[in-house]
Amino acid sequence: MKTKSWTPINADLIGLDGGAAKLTTPALLLDLEAMRANMRYLASECTRHGMKLRPHAKTHKCAEIAMEQIDSGAAGVCCATPHEVIALASAGVPAIHLTTPVFQPRHFERLAALHGQGLELMVVVDHPDQIASWENALGDAGRPLPVLVDIDIGMGRTGVVSAEAAIELARRLASHRSLRYAGAQGYSGMVQHINDYAERRAVYGRQLDHLQHVLDALRQAGLPPEIVSGGGTGTFGIDVERKVFTESQAGSYIFMDVEYHEVQLFADRSNPYKTSLFLRTSVVNDKVPGQLTINAGFKSFATDGPLAVVHEQFGGRRYELYGDEFGRIVLDSAQAQAGLVGSCVDLVTPHCDPTINLHDCYHVIEGDRVIDIWPIVARGVL
Ligand SMILES: Cc1ncc(COP(=O)(O)O)c(C=O)c1O
Repeated sequence: MKTKSWTPINADLIGLDGGAAKLTTPALLLDLEAMRANMRYLASECTRHGMKLRPHAKTHKCAEIAMEQIDSGAAGVCCATPHEVIALASAGVPAIHLTTPVFQPRHFERLAALHGQGLELMVVVDHPDQIASWENALGDAGRPLPVLVDIDIGMGRTGVVSAEAAIELARRLASHRSLRYAGAQGYSGMVQHINDYAERRAVYGRQLDHLQHVLDALRQAGLPPEIVSGGGTGTFGIDVERKVFTESQAGSYIFMDVEYHEVQLFADRSNPYKTSLFLRTSVVNDKVPGQLTINAGFKSFATDGPLAVVHEQFGGRRYELYGDEFGRIVLDSAQAQAGLVGSCVDLVTPHCDPTINLHDCYHVIEGDRVIDIWPIVARGVL
């Protein structure tokens, strides 16, 4: 696999016994077995419910993780931005669905070129102008580009709302030689994090009713969708029950961040996923009574939601942001403070997508060894 040519700071520790304890920090740790267990679980649940899995790679932005997902049964991965598609395709990921409509002229050209070079690309549209731009960029490409009509099921961000607008786009797609009308997409973001299952099911249920209405109208218009793509980690339990989608785009299930730990994922309150992503940090000093200063703050963690949580291995103590490069662990009076300077503290990551976007690589951990270092090749520029 082609990835960026660079030498990560911890590269010399790969394969050494006890290497994980020697890492220069802050370092993102990826517990490989935990991540693979999450992948196996969702892949087998999708099979059990007759769905495909097309997991969202915006969560990890890493070609090696995308390939692990494809190897464990995924039909390909999703990307949120053209930049992610270009970075992952250039690193060898063979099948990518872009879940956001394209609007910048150069993106149409670059993505059409990747399609021409053999990438199994799928895209969405929510405006006739995009269909014209795709046509121009693709020219007389031999292999038609599969396209889904993006349906707005309640978020208001992208997608068409009405059945009429969806039919109009599907008709236009079906009439173009270089494009193939492949179905529809309907994704709702905010509902994923409605923590209470019954409340999430009620709100999302109304959105799925609308999607179902648009899909029925497409069928009645002689435009049956072959693919209906959507859903996330938070709605998976509802998606399998409602059977509106032919495939799931879940993303965060591979890591299980702090934000998702607060969500009641299934009606029976079970959480089949293991936390697989941590940030390893180090204690910088203990100069203030009642706190340990560590080397991870705003530049290490997303701050749009709940804070990082100290791993239970360190007594479940509270983490607080303490500046750009620093954080602090708050101790209670009974907790010993001496002798900890220089030792490692692992934290469960808060919102995982924007957190990994701050880091260069994953340190892939098996037991006490770093078995590999994987670049976050699609990080940055969105
Ligand atoms: C279009 C789309 N599909 C799927 C997902 C995956 O959602 P989650 O990470 O909650 O599983 C996202 C995440 O933001 C998304 O934007």
